[in-house]
Amino acid sequence: MQRVFSGIQPSGDLHLGNLLGALVKWVDMQDDHDAIYCVVDLHALTLRHDPEELRRNTIELAQLLIAVGIDPERAILFVQSHVPQHPQLAWLMECTVSYGELSRMTAFKDKSNRDGTKFISAGLFTYPALQAADILLYDTDFVPVGDDQRQHVEITRDIAERFNSRYGDTFVVPEHVIPPAGARVMDLQHPDRKMSKSEEGAGTVNVLEDFKAVEKKFKRAVTDSDMEVRYDIEAKPGVSNLLSILAGATGGDPVALADNYEQYGPLKADTATAVIELLRPIQERFAELQADPAETERLLKVGADKAEAIAAEVLARAKTNVGLLQG
Ligand code: TRP
Repeated sequence: MQRVFSGIQPSGDLHLGNLLGALVKWVDMQDDHDAIYCVVDLHALTLRHDPEELRRNTIELAQLLIAVGIDPERAILFVQSHVPQHPQLAWLMECTVSYGELSRMTAFKDKSNRDGTKFISAGLFTYPALQAADILLYDTDFVPVGDDQRQHVEITRDIAERFNSRYGDTFVVPEHVIPPAGARVMDLQHPDRKMSKSEEGAGTVNVLEDFKAVEKKFKRAVTDSDMEVRYDIEAKPGVSNLLSILAGATGGDPVALADNYEQYGPLKADTATAVIELLRPIQERFAELQADPAETERLLKVGADKAEAIAAEVLARAKTNVGLLQG
């Protein structure tokens, strides 16, 4: 079976865009892939953070992933810092990637130029080396991540190829896959931009959001004034977003769904209902998990043990090939 690896940062609430755009695909991929999913807490240290918040976000994100349908029995679900091979291989990666290559990363340029960022950590700069370690430690075939991560997967491939050519065949060179046909979820207030974590407020629906608030947000979603329900992203971004969310939540097709509606009101109401029905079992499962943190910790320990068994072998191979003495 082909192996997929993906990572997600524990940096705040999960929203509908994460759920419909990526996580439902992660869940699907468990069926026909050897799937490994990682909560990348070490990556969250690259920006200023609050320790208490990081701890809470990490366990909550793990619980959300399980609630959404990642099955710790079938997939490997673990927390990055529990598997010490990640930062260990990251050092070898840092010595295989160049300063110039890291300087060209747009994610680094964006984050280091952000207003108010006075302190740019060295970790923010070497972030892609740790990400490469995450991926290469598992002989990963595919990395299902959004388009914004393309450059990080490309640099991982470059590092793997360079390492293999310098020190002999060591790593599987992974491929980027944009999760197929995940729903496109835009901000409900600004349907020309992606729903995002940082854009809290009326345009973002969180997975743990109260249902009354979900209803209100859909009722107030921005549409347009020509009163025609049609899937047309360019001309009708708001309406198309609602159709896309409705399709994502019900497994339908946004173009076909448009035929069922003549007015925006019912489309909004049905989309809200579909989203609430999608979120209901997730929130219920999440509440159960939250009531019993020891069980989540147990599941994460099982995941970390399984991950470490693979990672230790790959790290040993890399250390030997690069010329480090066996300890
Ligand atoms: N950089 C990714 C993001 O911000 C998270 C990530 C870390 C990741 N390591 C990874 C994604 C390995 C895929 C594979 O979304």
